[in-house]
Amino acid sequence: MKKIVVLGSTNVDTILNIERLPLPGETMAMTDRSVAGGGKGANQAIAAVRAGAEASFISKVGGDHAADFMFETFKKDGLNMEHVIVDENVGTGKAYILLDENGQNSILVYGGANQAITPAEIDDTKDFIAEADCIIAQFEVPLETITEAFKIAKDNGVVTILNPAPAKKEIPAELIALSDVIAPNETEAEIITGVKVEDEASMQKAADALHEMGVGTVVITVGDKGSFYSFKDGKSGFVDAFKVKAVDTTAAGDTFIGYLSANLEKDMSNIEEAMKIASKASSITVQEQGAQNSIPHKSKINF
Ligand code: RIB
Repeated sequence: MKKIVVLGSTNVDTILNIERLPLPGETMAMTDRSVAGGGKGANQAIAAVRAGAEASFISKVGGDHAADFMFETFKKDGLNMEHVIVDENVGTGKAYILLDENGQNSILVYGGANQAITPAEIDDTKDFIAEADCIIAQFEVPLETITEAFKIAKDNGVVTILNPAPAKKEIPAELIALSDVIAPNETEAEIITGVKVEDEASMQKAADALHEMGVGTVVITVGDKGSFYSFKDGKSGFVDAFKVKAVDTTAAGDTFIGYLSANLEKDMSNIEEAMKIASKASSITVQEQGAQNSIPHKSKINF
């Protein structure tokens, strides 16, 4: 079984159902409100477990009820929580998701404990990271912490997968160069490379810029259109998305990353197949409201 370590955020998501986004200064009623497990890191770790991998999570939560709620969720999935740190001095991360009737969302995030994971705490997990097949990270934890984790991974032959989300303007060149695989969406790809991603030619241009920065494998996701991959040696391709009616796209990208990582061979030889499975899993996630509750188990992936 593939061993995956995910370094990333834990959030409790509050979903606020509304007819449409409010205008500036407007007060409006919600049509519903619910709470679900979230955070890009936690979502990707859960997606990897449900895809059939042995996943472990490095994260930080506060000493509060939100953390208890998240530990219960992780336990149900069999996620290894040995390195989820509890810090009594900070609050567990929270996200507030405005979801309109067309399935369009806007997300506000309170980083809390996620912003307090330090490179020194990553050093404490050195042996643990060294034993993994791959490590995944996103941008809801400090970049210097991810850099430290990726250095340990590279020193030990562990594949590094960077999901540069949410988009950030200033990404250290060192971190990009430490990534074996980078998997941005079109917006994130444009912010990092300056190339407007509109079609396959511009995807290749953005991918070439990332190869120049030192990344061997680039995967760019383009929502309901599909996903594109490019290897430094020149091979590339596009995998179409599965067409479904989306009610909430929250965690669609996280599902894709978790499933891709769980299925991708170390030599990347099966990338198209792994992207197709990841795309199918995402198409199931978007058909239900909420993050972790909507991520499918492997048994649902039939095509
Ligand atoms: O990618 C979706 C996630 O982003 C949500 O679960 C929310 O917590 C935010 O971190």
